[in-house]
Amino acid sequence: AEANVGVVGLAAMGASLSRNLARHGYKVAVYNRTYARTENFMKNYASEGEFFPSKTVREFVDSLEKPRVAIIMVKAGQPTDDVIEELAAVMDKGDIIVDAGNAYFKDTMRREKAMAARGIHFVGCGVSGGEEGALLGPSMMPGGSDESWERLKPMFEAIAAKASDGTPCVAHIGPNGAGHFVKMVHNGIEYADMQLIAESYDLMRRGLKMTPAEIGDVFEQWNKTDLDSYLVEITAEVLHKVDDKTGMPLVDVIVDHAGMKGTGTWTVQTALSLEVPVTGIAEAVFARGLSGQTELREKAQADPFDGPDPKFDVDDEQRDDFIEHIRKALYASKIVAYAQGFNEIAAAGKHYGWDIDMAEVARIWRAGCIIRAKFLDRISEAFESGTADISLLFAPYFKSGIQEDEPSWRAVVEQAVRHGIPCPVFSSSLAYFDGLRSKRLPASLIQGQRDLFGAHTYQRVDEPGVFHTLWTEPGKPEIKEK
Ligand code: 6PG
Repeated sequence: AEANVGVVGLAAMGASLSRNLARHGYKVAVYNRTYARTENFMKNYASEGEFFPSKTVREFVDSLEKPRVAIIMVKAGQPTDDVIEELAAVMDKGDIIVDAGNAYFKDTMRREKAMAARGIHFVGCGVSGGEEGALLGPSMMPGGSDESWERLKPMFEAIAAKASDGTPCVAHIGPNGAGHFVKMVHNGIEYADMQLIAESYDLMRRGLKMTPAEIGDVFEQWNKTDLDSYLVEITAEVLHKVDDKTGMPLVDVIVDHAGMKGTGTWTVQTALSLEVPVTGIAEAVFARGLSGQTELREKAQADPFDGPDPKFDVDDEQRDDFIEHIRKALYASKIVAYAQGFNEIAAAGKHYGWDIDMAEVARIWRAGCIIRAKFLDRISEAFESGTADISLLFAPYFKSGIQEDEPSWRAVVEQAVRHGIPCPVFSSSLAYFDGLRSKRLPASLIQGQRDLFGAHTYQRVDEPGVFHTLWTEPGKPEIKEK
């Protein structure tokens, strides 16, 4: 037993994580189901640190110092269950299995319970930052027991990304599935953020008739504002990229079907069951869904509907002002998406009994992860000060930001609607904001309808209790027992 930690699964993410550990002085046992991949890994990276390659799970486990730490980075679902079982069969009480993949948090809860019964710590750990992050420093969101965290903390703090103030982007999120839950919502926010950027691009492309390179320049400028973030930065890079083969902007050569692996969908499904409206994330998932509806979209081209000219009523002198409106609309919508995501985390925290520190979540998202952004400093300050407890939208910094950007937000959605360019996350975020502002919502009418067709009852504004109207005799309310 010589290795300090082991990694199972040497595909892109697992290989990068192993190298990251080794570069920080850890002796790393590595195992992959197909040994050829392990050999390949050794051939390429053995010089970067001390690795212990194993051919079997038994050999891998035997090479680890106790209490053992085995990090698994394999496909979510059955492959993860298989690896856990193989490891647990040869591990001892007190050993730790870390699942660093994108697991569904309920699977993590189930696995944690099953492993705890066998005396093994199971830690579902969200890891964000892609391959590069895994190598150079990801943002890490571990769940699991306090005891396992004590053991993992120094190692994770060493390999995690460091925020600009030097703090490592890792924190113990909470017990069992809390870490994977927070990673899931991170991905949901990632979907909303990406869709908002894509909508901004589309509005400039079709509405303002700008070229991809010009729009790339705009994103480069935006990256020096409140929007400073990794996703805005890479957007500029993508838009500036020219295809080698055709000489066209690469974005015009890429098929416009957005893929997804499921975490965004889980975020929305979970939000529905927790009854938290995450409208921005939901619209982002559905927008990807529509992009992939090939048959439907082909039919709409073959048998087209009429619609307005997408060109906005914005002349050349007004163009820069309108671009600024789009930037503000993006910022306001983005705040809504984050606020909704944090509300989902808060609701899950209550529901599952996790004590999640929201300021801490924002802090560990400041570097390493895909949604890293300058304004996460402000988000963590907002949660710290207690002004974001009900919603981030009420924290003074964001409230005044939204208030200032609101006219631009409306101007953008108005033009988009008038000219037929879809911007589902911009417009649904605005609708959420307007819904939130409304003193009275038409939900009263819905309650009336429900009471009429199904005797579902309603509450009154002027009297406590539960009421039902005898609709056949209009106007005669009947008091129902609670
Ligand atoms: C990250 C990412 C990553 C995710 C990809 C792809 O935080 O590093 O969230 O975990 O797998 O972004 O996700 P989709 O294929 O669903 O777009």
